[in-house]
Amino acid sequence: MNVDALTPEYFADNPARDARFEVKERWIECPNLSGEHPQHQLEFFQRQMNEEVNSIESSARCLTDFPEADWELRLEFARQCADEARHAVMFREILESRGGHVGQFPVLNFQYRIITKCPTLVGRLTIQNRSFEAGGIDAITFGISAAKAEGDFVLAELYEAQLADEINHVRFANHWIRRFIAENRRCLLDIGAALTHASKAFLEVMGKEGTEGVTYPVDVTSRLDAGFTLNEIELDDLILATHPTAAASQPVPS
Ligand SMILES: [Fe+2]
Ligand SMILES: [Fe+2]
Repeated sequence: MNVDALTPEYFADNPARDARFEVKERWIECPNLSGEHPQHQLEFFQRQMNEEVNSIESSARCLTDFPEADWELRLEFARQCADEARHAVMFREILESRGGHVGQFPVLNFQYRIITKCPTLVGRLTIQNRSFEAGGIDAITFGISAAKAEGDFVLAELYEAQLADEINHVRFANHWIRRFIAENRRCLLDIGAALTHASKAFLEVMGKEGTEGVTYPVDVTSRLDAGFTLNEIELDDLILATHPTAAASQPVPS
């Protein structure tokens, strides 16, 4: 398929992948099997496994690119790497236990490419943890209910374990973003620039096809647990209605 190249100002280079992986640039180049397709769930598991690896790589880059950051924040990134590695293994195991294999479907690395293009640490926390992962919380909560409704308790348990960790990742980001703002209000400009960059880049990767109709109800309880205030949740709810970055950071999790 011939597709336009992505705007280089919005995207870092792809992370390394071995020969098993077929890496695509845009959502429309992936199969995106419909919910009725027998391999729909396998495609999701493999894509999600790769997205978890993107999260490891992005958090690891926060360690290597910002060595001067507070030790407590660096410890959070190190813990996040361990959590995301556990998630990648969980998704690989469920993929293989249901007859799939690594490399079976193409993957995208848009998360890593957008996050690591951002030059500021507060911006990366905003994009990765407070936008992509906060959107992920809503998607996982939806996935837990859907899996239970289908009697798939193995998958529901996987999502529950993942959710507990993702709430933590969003919570530490909220804590540190507030601290950065309290220390220097100019970083609000960095946050705004990061959100604008992520929004434009995300829409370029996903296109209208990948974002239309992909929204999940806001999981208010988990978001409160993750350090959002009620005001922020209501504001996010409004943003989600018009702004797909957070809502569609995960494909339909079932
Ligand atoms: Fe994760
Ligand atoms: Fe995470």
